[in-house]
Amino acid sequence: MQTALYPGTFDPMTHGHLDIMERALRLFDSLIVAVAVNPYKHPLFTVEERVEMIQEETESWERIRVEPFDGLLIEYAHNMGAQSIIRGLRAVSDFEYEFQMALTNRSLDSSIETVFLMPSEQYTYLNSTIVKEIAHLGGNVSQFVPKGVERRLREKLPQPEHE
Ligand code: COA
Repeated sequence: MQTALYPGTFDPMTHGHLDIMERALRLFDSLIVAVAVNPYKHPLFTVEERVEMIQEETESWERIRVEPFDGLLIEYAHNMGAQSIIRGLRAVSDFEYEFQMALTNRSLDSSIETVFLMPSEQYTYLNSTIVKEIAHLGGNVSQFVPKGVERRLREKLPQPEHE
């Protein structure tokens, strides 16, 4: 039984994240999506909201569960019985940070392997900050996030008044 853990802040989850989850499920028997509390990033959504948004979108999927986590990723992965950590690699600009994180995690626990997956090219430029900025400015984010996330963004962010 090969279990992978896909960690991130998911503030909020986008179609790019869902794309990575689908790909991971093709390779592993089960997938745990681990939503980091990550106070350093000052997330817009609470960890409970971020977990809920992913659960709503994946409720009909089998072999996947979504959990909040705090603390050291590698310890959490070990405690959850995961053999691999999944990270999405979108562009060369991701590489340095991901390389550092993967090697640090390996030096902390060499039994857990980091596996990089590439999302579909239409999502390579996407990140959660851009989505929040577009939504905040009243733009249409329907091509980037599922409907439920779009609705929550509208509720959470004050919308600009258009004339
Ligand atoms: N599609 C769209 N966007 C994507 C994406 C994809 N497939 N993959 C990543 N992103 C975006 C995210 O939305 C995020 O955007 P943002 O910076 O605008 O919010 C950005 O790329 C990277 O974020 P994410 O994948 O959420 O990872 P992260 O860097 O926020 O989280 C953790 C990294 C949580 C895994 C890391 O901080 C961690 O391990 N924390 C625990 C503490 C620890 O163990 N530290 C030591 C690590 S060596």
